[in-house]
Amino acid sequence: MQWWRARSKGRQNSFQELRFGSSKIDTDLINRIERATGQKPHHFLRRGIFFSHRDMDQILDAYENKKSFYLYTGRGPSSQAMHVGHLIPFMFTKWLQEVFDVPLVIQLTDDEKYLWKDMTVEKAYEYAKENAKDIIACGFDINKTFIFSDLDYLGTSPGFYKNIVKVQKHVTFNQVKGIFGFTDSDCIGKISFPAIQAAPSFSSSFPQIFNGKENIQCLIPCAIDQDPYFRMTRDVAPRIGQPKPALLHSVFFPALQGAQTKMSASDPNSSIFLTDTPKQIKTKINKHAFSGGRDTIEEHRKYGGNCDVDVSFMYLTFFLEDDDRLEQLKQAYTSGELLTGELKKVLIETMQPLIAAHQERRKQVTDEVVKQFMTPRKLAFEF
Ligand code: TYM
Repeated sequence: MQWWRARSKGRQNSFQELRFGSSKIDTDLINRIERATGQKPHHFLRRGIFFSHRDMDQILDAYENKKSFYLYTGRGPSSQAMHVGHLIPFMFTKWLQEVFDVPLVIQLTDDEKYLWKDMTVEKAYEYAKENAKDIIACGFDINKTFIFSDLDYLGTSPGFYKNIVKVQKHVTFNQVKGIFGFTDSDCIGKISFPAIQAAPSFSSSFPQIFNGKENIQCLIPCAIDQDPYFRMTRDVAPRIGQPKPALLHSVFFPALQGAQTKMSASDPNSSIFLTDTPKQIKTKINKHAFSGGRDTIEEHRKYGGNCDVDVSFMYLTFFLEDDDRLEQLKQAYTSGELLTGELKKVLIETMQPLIAAHQERRKQVTDEVVKQFMTPRKLAFEF
């Protein structure tokens, strides 16, 4: 059993469970994606990291009938540095863009972070541009990708704002209180924000990309924490004459201290950040990665380690692409042949080059490149 399934047994509201009628991404669906794209499924699919979906079969039905769709994902720029957990949806979105060859829109919710955090509007906008560099460094196709800051794009796109007010008209205060837990003392900006995250699910928010064509289906890859926004969106869609967006949900990437703790940008030791040096990565993993090993070497050799709780093993399931090597490590750790220190070494050797390569690509992303990605324009795609 995969660690997140073992762990989530009996827990409610965990970020690993199928919720509110979402469906499991099962072998049949994965095989179908493979047939449709002619590509080996991404290891996030093979390993159940993207584990749940809404209406992915509909996307595939249409795709098999030569009807295309577009991808939509996003980031709330709460700080300068993103952590490796944030990379998960973007790495997967890049793969989806490549294998399906479709356009992509990426929303940077600087307005959301201004409303929720103790931050000026200017700072939120600055972080949006900084985070855009990390996102671009994931390798998105500049000809097929539009990245936008809400603070920018809302002022220039009547299509986007029209959809926002349509959603706002169809959701009551009572409903958002139920979904997001708002209270009477929350500012009205927060209460109306969900409509802003909903609107990019509708192609008419991007007339420059879709030539004014409405009703092009949208697929949203994200971690399961974002699902409440899109349950609300799917509920509203038919009432404003739009198709419901489809979704692919990933599990939550755990903090170094273990799957029960939350990663936080204000605690540099809670995760590996995209700005970390090789030395910081090594120290963090050696010092903070929760171990599923035994108390003594003798006990470890005798009883073996527990991959279901070992954070180094969990991180390797996300970032070590080689299935055979991962399986070998699992066997060796579980049998006690491999010690915690040795497993951590494998993780360090996996993460150091991965982060260094990301930093190298990010260096190439100039302000001019960011500007190009963030300019509303036609993309190289005909619907
Ligand atoms: P944000 O900035 O919190 O997160 C950005 C993306 O990363 C995912 N994510 C994680 N995935 C795996 N493990 C983690 N520990 C982890 N933490 C965050 C999030 O699910 C998200 O996909 N309100 C949103 C921004 C947004 C958005 C969207 C996200 C606007 N439109 C459409 C997804 C799809 C936010 O603050 O994301």
